[in-house]
Amino acid sequence: MAKPKVLVTRRWPQAVEAKMAEVFDLDLNRADKPLTVTELKAALGQYDAVLPTVTDRLPAAVFDRAGSRTRILANYGVGFAHIDTEAAKAASITVTNTPDVLSECTADIAMTLMLMVARRASEGERELREGRWTGWRPTHLIGTKVSGATLGIIGFGRIGQAMAQRAHFGFGMKILVQNRSAVPAEVLARYNAVQVPTIEDLLPECDFVSLHCPGGAANRHLINSHRLDLMRPGAFLINTARGEVVDEHALAQALWFGTIGGAGLDVFEREPQVPEALLGADNLVLLPHLGSATRETREAMGFRVLDNLTDFFDGRQPRDRVA
Ligand code: DGY
Repeated sequence: MAKPKVLVTRRWPQAVEAKMAEVFDLDLNRADKPLTVTELKAALGQYDAVLPTVTDRLPAAVFDRAGSRTRILANYGVGFAHIDTEAAKAASITVTNTPDVLSECTADIAMTLMLMVARRASEGERELREGRWTGWRPTHLIGTKVSGATLGIIGFGRIGQAMAQRAHFGFGMKILVQNRSAVPAEVLARYNAVQVPTIEDLLPECDFVSLHCPGGAANRHLINSHRLDLMRPGAFLINTARGEVVDEHALAQALWFGTIGGAGLDVFEREPQVPEALLGADNLVLLPHLGSATRETREAMGFRVLDNLTDFFDGRQPRDRVA
């Protein structure tokens, strides 16, 4: 039987590409640039499986019920708001993602941002590299203590819980949780966490707020100027979820006027573009979407895609089916 024809839309870790090429008739996007909607539409007519990433937009216009050869979109990543899953379903295309394997590393980056912004690490490094450091003094670059502070976690799935684990056990933080469904009592008890009904209940109580909810239209600008106003004046906002969850314009204003103490961002609404107003803010740490960027995790994500594809083409239900 002919091997399924598979398109990988970006370059993946070498070990995964090699394994994939043994199992499938594999094409790689050697240019390693995001594919356009037109290119993706064409790919859906040519391949049995397309393996997109967060940089590939797959709106309804990409799907053509009649002309699609593709039966599965096996996304390399946990977030899949860039795929119109309703349109995929209507075109009888299965969609999978790669949960679990990136939770720890994404929480590590959220923790990194939290520590860096609270302890003014980026400001300090800039000062030192630019030759502006004049030596130790008692009032130099005074930051905010993280240990023992209150952390609000919005979205308490796998990554939110990995964040709670670090914050509770590593830093003795008090944890408040806001989640769209009730979190089981035993899960909250693990981190001595308290679930509050609404974001409005959470924000005024926290020194740090970390976002771990999905992106997409439903959560677009979940953190807006009204909600930034509800945060404590010295509080910090951390976003490793999706850029669209935060209104970047409102955040830039809040940073500029000191409505909040600072922020740490790993994701942006129009990646790789970052608004000028954010680039100019000192009390802000910016990272280029590094959440899952470790060798171990990127390989594990690839092998998870491989498992999903193998299940699918062997006639089993892929474990990470999301649509
Ligand atoms: C994810 O897995 O969703 C990461 O943000 C990369 O897409």
